[in-house]
Amino acid sequence: MKPRNHSIEVSATYEDLSERAAAAIFEVMRSAPRGLYCLAAGDTPRRAYRLLARRVLDEGLNVSEMRFVGLDEWIGLDGHDRGSCRALLNELLFGPLGIRMDRIAFFDAKSADLPGECRKIDEWIADWGPIDLVVLGIGMNGHLGFNEPGTRAETLSHAMDLEEVTQSVGTKYFDSGTAPAGGLTIGLGQIMGAKRALLMASGEGKAGIVRRAFSSDSFPEIPASILLRHPRFSLLLDAAAATGV
Ligand code: PGA
Repeated sequence: MKPRNHSIEVSATYEDLSERAAAAIFEVMRSAPRGLYCLAAGDTPRRAYRLLARRVLDEGLNVSEMRFVGLDEWIGLDGHDRGSCRALLNELLFGPLGIRMDRIAFFDAKSADLPGECRKIDEWIADWGPIDLVVLGIGMNGHLGFNEPGTRAETLSHAMDLEEVTQSVGTKYFDSGTAPAGGLTIGLGQIMGAKRALLMASGEGKAGIVRRAFSSDSFPEIPASILLRHPRFSLLLDAAAATGV
């Protein structure tokens, strides 16, 4: 990985990684209180978001002028569905921080008009962007959001058929034991247009894909590898996820 505008930080444990990530997000929020923020759902950032919310409240950071945009959503779900991306962010951040609904743009992936949902998100990013900070995880196939392998670099918001591995890993979020076969996601062009990108990965299960994504440029087979071309990218790992980089 190119060291120049990039950083890799390896924390000993998931708890340490979460503290580092929460601190990094907090610092950007403090410096850009009217910024636009795009925050991934998923299991990895859960603890960081709890710590972030606590710190924002403890330190009285004014978040009322910030705007938020959803990274992705499972097709067929909205914020009322357990396991949806929106439900996670509602629970961990939007609810605890009292973010007003008119400050949030999120895919309603239950809509009959999915192209319209994508247009809504594209317009929000065009109106209020660029994104000040995008917080990302990495899928087992290297996806960013639901940008699966092969996605073109310049994409805006779009619907994706999800690979088998994304669906099978995704069952962990749902009591039903199955995950939707499609997703809506902001595009790689919008992720790359963010002023800063931060990616968190935790656990030995992620070590292989982290190595493949970040030891050399493997885009577009490994979508996350595109972040090696991002001007300001931080990779935050715990020791278990970092064995290959
Ligand atoms: P996870 O998901 O944080 O639950 O591992 C990451 C992703 O699929 O992007």
